[in-house]
Amino acid sequence: MNRVDYLRISLIDRCNFRCQYCMPEETELDYILRQELLTYDELLILLKEVFIPLGFSKFRLTGGEPLLRPRVVELVREIASLPQTQDLSMTTNGFLLKSMAHDLYQAGLRRINISLDSLNQETFDQIIGTFGRSRWQQTWEGIQTAYQVGFDPLKLNVVMIPGVNENEIEDLAQLTIDRRWHVRFIEFMPIGNAQLFSHRAWVPSEEIRQRIRQKWGLIESSIQGNGPADVFQIPGAKGTLGFISQMSECFCDRCNRMRLAADGWLRPCLLNETGQINLKIALRQGIKTSELREQVKQLLEIKPEINFKQRESGTENAVYNRTMSQIGG
Ligand code: GTP
Ligand code: 5AD
Ligand code: SF4
Repeated sequence: MNRVDYLRISLIDRCNFRCQYCMPEETELDYILRQELLTYDELLILLKEVFIPLGFSKFRLTGGEPLLRPRVVELVREIASLPQTQDLSMTTNGFLLKSMAHDLYQAGLRRINISLDSLNQETFDQIIGTFGRSRWQQTWEGIQTAYQVGFDPLKLNVVMIPGVNENEIEDLAQLTIDRRWHVRFIEFMPIGNAQLFSHRAWVPSEEIRQRIRQKWGLIESSIQGNGPADVFQIPGAKGTLGFISQMSECFCDRCNRMRLAADGWLRPCLLNETGQINLKIALRQGIKTSELREQVKQLLEIKPEINFKQRESGTENAVYNRTMSQIGG
């Protein structure tokens, strides 16, 4: 059984983008009300008294868009300074990084994953939703700022959408040659976006690797993370290429993580909604953290079964109540 020591913490379900695959247009989302958000004090209590004693030491802040949560820099400082924190990271869309990257780094954040689905302004705007003025330039500058400030590793997440950004595989892969950037191609997952997910909405990683192999060659990288990505490299490149292939090659049996939603729901598996418990409600009801620790421990024990069931049922027919933006990826 894999050790589960990585918690993805969604700080807010709102986002300043509206990526088609993550927040489908047709869906009317009910945003979490401010008073229903887990407060920072509650979150820190849960970390110190529930998750850390159970062996969690790696934390990732996600959203929606985590940089929209007020006082996020303070929270980063608090979590980074906990002696048991071995790894603290963030997944962001990069739009606010130009102004915030420096403060985040100063507060102790060292690694960051940024979504970047296209290098082409029009395609980018089409994917993230149109907001009048293009958001491409500010996002690109946010990425550059994060790089200059010193975030390392700096990972760029590309969700591959057939017929939309498939023609940019080589351009995106090329970013890893001269810079120590890590580009990851992600197979599109059918979560909360059933209407978009037609017969074959995802591009198999092997197809992408094949194209890169033909152009430059491709070798397995010696740096394999402990996340879902299989890591490769263009020979001689400074950065790496990761492939997150949940649709073509299930990696559930090496899963090391749980997810805490902004309203306190703890979710044992991204692709299976069973087994969730609400830690915020429990805390507010006055349930002792020792009792909550016991509940999470039990959930950890049954987690492999939950992961396994998902694999048997198949992802394509599953129905999800929450969208990716609400779960945090
Ligand atoms: P690292 O810690 O840097 O390896 O991060 P990560 O790749 O786990 O996190 P990130 O937020 O960058 O996620 C990249 C993609 O991987 C997103 O599409 C996530 O939804 C997906 N992903 C992350 N964890 C899991 C998981 O446990 N299961 C599945 N199926 N997908 C995941
Ligand atoms: N399938 C795969 N990845 C997704 N993400 C958001 N929605 C999906 C989806 N349906 C990715 C984003 C971001 C990360 C948190 O999850 O691109 O990088
Ligand atoms: Fe926002 Fe990220 Fe979802 Fe895009 S993928 S809508 S940036 S949460």
